[in-house]
Amino acid sequence: MRAHLLSLALALPILAASCTEPPQVAAVANPVGAAAVTQERLLAAASEPGSWLAAGGDFEEQRFSRLDQIDASNVARLGLAWFADIDTERGQEATPVVVDGVLYLTTAWSMVKAYNIADGTLLWAYDPAVDRAKGADACCDVVNRGVAVWEGKVYFGTIDGRLIALDGKTGEVVWQQQTVDASMPYTITGVPRIIRGKVVIGNGGAEYRVRGYVTAYDAATGDQLWRYFTVPGDPSLPFEQPELAEAAKTWKGEWWKLGGGGTVWDGMAWDEKSGLLYLGVGNGTPWNQGLRSPGGGDNLFLSSIVAIDPETGSYKWHYQTTPGETWDYTATQPMIIADLTYPSGPRRVVMQAPKNGFFYVLDAATGELLSAEKFAPLTWATHVDMATGRPVEVAEARYEVTGKPAIVAPGALGMHNWHPMAFSRDTGYVYIPVTVNNAPYAAAKNFVPNMTGWNTGTDFAGGADLYKQPGAPPRGNVESYILAWDPVAAKEVWRIPNEVYGASGLLATAGNLIFSGNHKGEFVAYRADTGEKLWSAPTQARVVAAPSTYMVNGEQHVAILVGARGLPTDQIRTNPASANNSRLLVFKIDGDKTLPATLQVRNNAGPVKIDPPLLTASNETVASGEQAFATHCAMCHGVNSVPGAGSIGPDLRYSALLSFRGQWNEAVLEGNRAQRGMPGFANILRDGESEAILAYVIKRANDEKAAQEAAATQ
Ligand code: HEC
Repeated sequence: MRAHLLSLALALPILAASCTEPPQVAAVANPVGAAAVTQERLLAAASEPGSWLAAGGDFEEQRFSRLDQIDASNVARLGLAWFADIDTERGQEATPVVVDGVLYLTTAWSMVKAYNIADGTLLWAYDPAVDRAKGADACCDVVNRGVAVWEGKVYFGTIDGRLIALDGKTGEVVWQQQTVDASMPYTITGVPRIIRGKVVIGNGGAEYRVRGYVTAYDAATGDQLWRYFTVPGDPSLPFEQPELAEAAKTWKGEWWKLGGGGTVWDGMAWDEKSGLLYLGVGNGTPWNQGLRSPGGGDNLFLSSIVAIDPETGSYKWHYQTTPGETWDYTATQPMIIADLTYPSGPRRVVMQAPKNGFFYVLDAATGELLSAEKFAPLTWATHVDMATGRPVEVAEARYEVTGKPAIVAPGALGMHNWHPMAFSRDTGYVYIPVTVNNAPYAAAKNFVPNMTGWNTGTDFAGGADLYKQPGAPPRGNVESYILAWDPVAAKEVWRIPNEVYGASGLLATAGNLIFSGNHKGEFVAYRADTGEKLWSAPTQARVVAAPSTYMVNGEQHVAILVGARGLPTDQIRTNPASANNSRLLVFKIDGDKTLPATLQVRNNAGPVKIDPPLLTASNETVASGEQAFATHCAMCHGVNSVPGAGSIGPDLRYSALLSFRGQWNEAVLEGNRAQRGMPGFANILRDGESEAILAYVIKRANDEKAAQEAAATQ
């Protein structure tokens, strides 16, 4: 510790000197496509507000633009400047990065596109040709959150675990590296971060059976520089990092056999001033701690913010948000670095609103916990004890310890997920897309590790009866809203409820505005100080991604990628290339373009009639099908076979295959739709299980048909 403080003291005068003389980059006049992001330019992003140099805006990831041409007084005149149809469907989660005349974007299936920022001309497009069967390893859709740009190149991760560097001007591959064991269910959906010429990339897969780590590569050559593991491996082998020996003491049993989890699938941030890279570490594998680490323990560094030295990849400090997590409470949500002014003086902090529902403010240099307050009505803990920094848990929430199912808030999707929050330097508020939800947690009865699917160790069908008890909360998704949070006072300022449940990323600007899409199918501007809704435009799609903003030809533009899993209610299809109307929309004052209003039918069948065959199977068969469905199918086709906002797969109750046992088995067992993201389960389901699931879905479909008929005759 002492040595660490000394080296900081030595480094400070040098940092201070560089702060007082910001590099002069006001008039950047690079050729189009130069992609000439440098260390100096990124650190001076504030003096170049016309660009959006990194997905998070800049290194501090505040998603705050100093552009103020569009403001609360004129935002009502905002109109579409141009738009581009995206040729993929499914979730579109990327924030557009804008530099040297080009807007860079990733889409579903890890494709990259480069547009001329003035008129939307597509300059180049790159498809890494990911095998679509790999979609089965993506817990939460085949999404990608964007690129990093550095010294002429564009970097991004792929769903099959590659890190690729493209030429910013041509889109040609400069180098690529496989960053994961391709035989394992790893995926990449997060944005690479670039620190002094090192590209750092994480990975995902903790619902399956992987061990989390991040890797740094030389941005110029692609050579691997270091790798940092977030959880200990097999203790009979040497630990890769000294602190993992300590971390291993907080685990029990044979956790390494399923990897342990702890993936850094989204949030990372680098603080130039404290010289630290923060890793947001995810949940454990399996979720159920009783199976993962029988007998408990903190299970470091799951659900933690871990600070490391980006030069060497060595550990500095950590803060664990959910010790011994057992509910899928990741702490890989985005982190924001900021200078806050407390009554006692200024503090440089790192802030996070992870899934577990507490808003954390930590000292950026030391990791000291400054505040941890509930930003949403969570029920798994009463509060965080500021003396120990640990949450005080509610005993009933630990279903794996009590042996009894429990309704816990939040459920696995969290009170806040990956959807970027924003911090306004003007209002001092953090804006958080909050999703209030709960879920029943129950331990899996006869857990058998699943080599090709999820390993949560929980029973998704268990605990449902708890909702029938008096006083039980409404099940599932309760409400969602944009929350303005005062991080100094550690309390809510106001909230804007969403009409349709769901979270969407945020942008704050110096025009006293925040911008966000929603799940009703709108792009909206609100006043940053009061939350008043000032303007909206139809998106013809649900929106999950975060916007960014830039200047071209003296005009401020706001860009948003739209398209989520599924269409907004009552939405027709207008993008022939994308069933969910995925598009890049770019707005400016007095923009006069409109989205196509006419339905361009390709395979839009309109409302489908529910038409299941009669149920002939026994109650026992249906019950065993329900179990198997909950274990293997619910994560994509929806709990109880009712797809939710997060479901990738279709509503099986409406499937024509219910009447065709042979074709059902071809899809479910043989995987004849694997290239469309429906994995084959031949090696996973036991004999007869596919048909038991079929019987269960037929039962669910007949229930729904009867309900619809009853409603129609009323
Ligand atoms: C990883 C996500 C995922 C999982 C897990 C999954 N599915 Fe699917 N499923 C899909 C997707 C995506 C489609 C749509 C494929 C297409 O577009 O043809 C699909 C389609 C289907 C279809 C075809 C429906 C139709 O009418 O065309 C059936 C049947 C099906 N799934 C059954 C199942 C069953 C049974 C399970 C569990 C054993 C399961 N699925 C698990 C993603 C999944």
